Amino acid sequence: MRKNIVAGNWKMNKNLQEGLALAKELDATLKGKKVNCDVIIGTPFIHLAKVVEAIDTHKIGVAAQNCADKASGAYTGEVSAEMVASTGAKYVILGHSERRAYYHETPEILKQKVILALANGLTPIFCIGEVLAEREAEKHFEIVKSQLQKSLFELSSEDFSKLILAYEPVWAIGTGKTATPEQAQEMHAFIRKTIAEKYGDEVADNTSILYGGSANASNAKELFANPDVDGGLIGGASLSVDKFMPIIEAF
Ligand code: 13P
Repeated sequence: MRKNIVAGNWKMNKNLQEGLALAKELDATLKGKKVNCDVIIGTPFIHLAKVVEAIDTHKIGVAAQNCADKASGAYTGEVSAEMVASTGAKYVILGHSERRAYYHETPEILKQKVILALANGLTPIFCIGEVLAEREAEKHFEIVKSQLQKSLFELSSEDFSKLILAYEPVWAIGTGKTATPEQAQEMHAFIRKTIAEKYGDEVADNTSILYGGSANASNAKELFANPDVDGGLIGGASLSVDKFMPIIEAF
């Protein structure tokens, strides 16, 4: 059965000391607590190794927010999937709309990143979602289907089964304008149906599909109550334990 997951995406926030302090505080808060979902934090690259050492990684999974589309070599400034894995991080967020928009990551580049992440034993948390103009033009289903097809649908069924997906409507990210529970459920059900058409019902049923975009303590319960919403990918509200814990506890 698919897992419920609450994952934080810190984005480019927190210096090393601040990030370590946040990770340790979350670790201490979760100690001895029984929660009904997996918890993941997505930190900047430079935090990964230290965060992994500082926390109980059985309780909190650690994710990078990106990895290179090349295995190794003369790519100044890049960080490979193998390097991420060598820190002890188990996950990598890929295809985030901020990377697609600001760093020109194409579906083809993302396909290579997914392949390298999987080859290095990392679980990709793969983000898909439409921009406002696409939703207004009623193209959101088409866009999301094509994002899946172009970057993921050449994977074997075995590899596809290792992925976590995150539906993040771009118009909801950092805007305070959350998708309604109905909008989230409608799209998540569509994503699951699209997966089922390609890989069959069993793979589709077992894929965790997270919602991201202005999710917070007040809307998480309603969002997570939907049958096809298996958790959240949380930006702003993952930057403090006070805001992140209630989202974890929404399950
Ligand atoms: P916010 O929760 O800040 O809207 O960000 C969502 C997101 O982009 C998570 O990846």
